[in-house]
Amino acid sequence: MSRSIKIFDTTLRDGEQCPGASMNRSEKLSVARMLSRLNVDIIEAGFPVASEDDFEGVKLIAQEVKGPVIAALARAKEKDIDAAWEAIRFAERGRIHTFLATSEIHMRHKLRMTREEVLQSAVAAVQYAKRYTEDVEFSPEDATRSDYDFLCRVIEAVINAGATTVNIPDTVGYAVPTEFGELIRFIRNRVPNIDRAVISVHCHNDLGLATANSLAAISEGAGQVECTVNGIGERAGNASMEEIVMTLRVRKNFFDAETRVHPEEITKASRLVSGITGLVVQPNKAIVGTNAFAHESGIHQDGLLKDKRTYEIMTPLSVGLTEHKMVLGKHSGRHAFRAKLEEMGFSLKEEEIDATFEQFKKVADQKKEVFEEDLEAIVAERVYRIPERYLLKSLHVQSGTQQQPVATIELEIDGQLHKAVGSGDGPVDAIYRTILAMTKTEGRLLQYAVKAITGGTDALGEVTVQYEVAERVYFGHGADTDIIIASAKAYLNALNKVAYSKGDGGAALRIPQEGP
Ligand code: KIV
Ligand code: ZN
Repeated sequence: MSRSIKIFDTTLRDGEQCPGASMNRSEKLSVARMLSRLNVDIIEAGFPVASEDDFEGVKLIAQEVKGPVIAALARAKEKDIDAAWEAIRFAERGRIHTFLATSEIHMRHKLRMTREEVLQSAVAAVQYAKRYTEDVEFSPEDATRSDYDFLCRVIEAVINAGATTVNIPDTVGYAVPTEFGELIRFIRNRVPNIDRAVISVHCHNDLGLATANSLAAISEGAGQVECTVNGIGERAGNASMEEIVMTLRVRKNFFDAETRVHPEEITKASRLVSGITGLVVQPNKAIVGTNAFAHESGIHQDGLLKDKRTYEIMTPLSVGLTEHKMVLGKHSGRHAFRAKLEEMGFSLKEEEIDATFEQFKKVADQKKEVFEEDLEAIVAERVYRIPERYLLKSLHVQSGTQQQPVATIELEIDGQLHKAVGSGDGPVDAIYRTILAMTKTEGRLLQYAVKAITGGTDALGEVTVQYEVAERVYFGHGADTDIIIASAKAYLNALNKVAYSKGDGGAALRIPQEGP
């Protein structure tokens, strides 16, 4: 019988640490529900002590999401562990994941602790977490750059203290596959009580080796992999969930190991995470890139027509990639609409159904056919919204070959109606300059991207922007059949996030010095 590998998804914790990827509570909940549909074993829902918003997000997921174990991250400190437990205590099954660095460079320069102090703190943290739950994971941060003998001492001690999972992070993405596999083998041979814990791995992608390193570790006996949807995460990201799941599936003959993940949910999960975070998936990304199943060369196409297996090692359908399907039309009723959203994995409240149905009707009037992708955009647009300080009331733009574009905009700001007129180099520039003057937001636009969600000139246009304020990047998203309106919505969405994070201090707060 093949070995079962646990998938520990950290999209909501390490993934969310990636610039611009911060999510609000309702977005986090939707991603967590999607992860539960994917059937991952563990969802790392956040780092509760980092901010009020993180805490509430983890708590909400622990209360609402059934199936996977819900994990919360904590430094090796009592206050972090208390916060982690408070956030996950109502989960069906909860895990506390505590960590402390073991490399010389981290111990000496970041922690300013000796080896003995680190060893004692790691043990104390695990013992403290054990007072709350049986399920405790310990990570020696920067394990791959640690002295291996010391690393093994720490692992042995935390297992004796009760850790049921020991996670080996390649925190800075430094390891290479053979070396990382050998480290896992070394730990298995050297740590006498290692059979009392699951060995997990957590690889970063700084050298593009996160998936390869994780797979090398699986070959050497690792039983859990930490990964994220689309490989998002700190810096170059983490090991990609879909790459690990599909490699184990497609190459079962080699690894003789499998996961419990439902691969046909992968495309939906990828789109949801990309839509919510604004982190566009590169077209040639394995499994979920738009080109992952596109064959351009004539020789390949000829081969495929004769027998798909000539150039296809997995089918698009196996990862849930289907042709754009017309799912609803303008005569579809509320009942069919709700049923479709449920089938797509969205569980919305009554008022959210009302808001999305109203928008759906508008879109269905303008377009002949409404596709799943359109519905995803409508939900992103209407549901995953933070409280809005700035509301678009009306927009009029004049532009043409003979005149400078001029935008006339009405915004409701804190409940008051404001109107302004402004010009710019193009229609979008005119809108953005006018909105900036009206909202008095200081920052800079880093990125503006437009794409048609489905084919045709009547397609919903989706605009994403990245806006930077005080070294923090805010992602904005807007969809409309008119891309000028979508552009305004996306910009306002980003500016609303800026206002929200200033107002409640929530989503924008992180613990910088000692955080993971
Ligand atoms: O990269 C890392 O070391 C981490 C730990 C907290 C597991 O994210
Ligand atoms: Zn990490």
